[in-house]
Amino acid sequence: AVPVVAIDGPSASGKGTVGSMVAKALGWHHLDSGSLYRLTALTALRDGVDLDDEIGVAALAAALPARFDGDRVLLGDEDVSDEIRDEAVSVGASRVAVLPAVRAALFGRQRDYRCGPGLVAEGRDIGSTIFPDAPVKVFLTASPEARAQRRYKQLKEKGLPANMESLMQDLRERDARDAARAVAPLQQQPDAVLLDTTSMDVDAAVAFVLDLVRD
Ligand code: CDP
Repeated sequence: AVPVVAIDGPSASGKGTVGSMVAKALGWHHLDSGSLYRLTALTALRDGVDLDDEIGVAALAAALPARFDGDRVLLGDEDVSDEIRDEAVSVGASRVAVLPAVRAALFGRQRDYRCGPGLVAEGRDIGSTIFPDAPVKVFLTASPEARAQRRYKQLKEKGLPANMESLMQDLRERDARDAARAVAPLQQQPDAVLLDTTSMDVDAAVAFVLDLVRD
């Protein structure tokens, strides 16, 4: 079988950066599954489909013209990489992700990214649901303070307004929603290696994952 590195973990734990760098180092494909939930939410917001309309949102998810070009995320020919990071879309993604029909609609699409020579995929349910047979599973996390700090820095670098209090609050809400949902709740799998990056930089985290793959 084509090898998969599954990286799961909470919001703003650094999965995206680590996953992308590990994939580049290995020359493997990369799937940021969160972007599929973000694209689904963005499309629903644009089309005026209610985020609680499970059947309506699942139909959008099934038909997404999603494309990935390096680290850019496209809907058809439109580059929406920045737009899917907007706060409204982030909250929307977290809301549509609780809907079982939406998760089911995105299941097969995620499985299709498993192509040679290998795949690095990150999300919340990669090791539990999408690729339970992944030979390498990592649970990437960091303290809520460290995660809020990182998001704060990112926003400031982009010249956007940022407030630590509200970022912490937002992270806690999103963590609670991810952990409490009935379908694919976020939890560390028994066969996943814990990688706590609270006091670890990106390069060290990437090196740690690469060591697991090469063992
Ligand atoms: O990590 P962050 O919350 O910033 O964003 P993300 O990884 O892009 O995920 C966006 C949302 O999609 C999260 O709030 C999750 O609830 C959801 N998600 C999911 O349910 N399952 C996945 N495999 C990936 C993301």
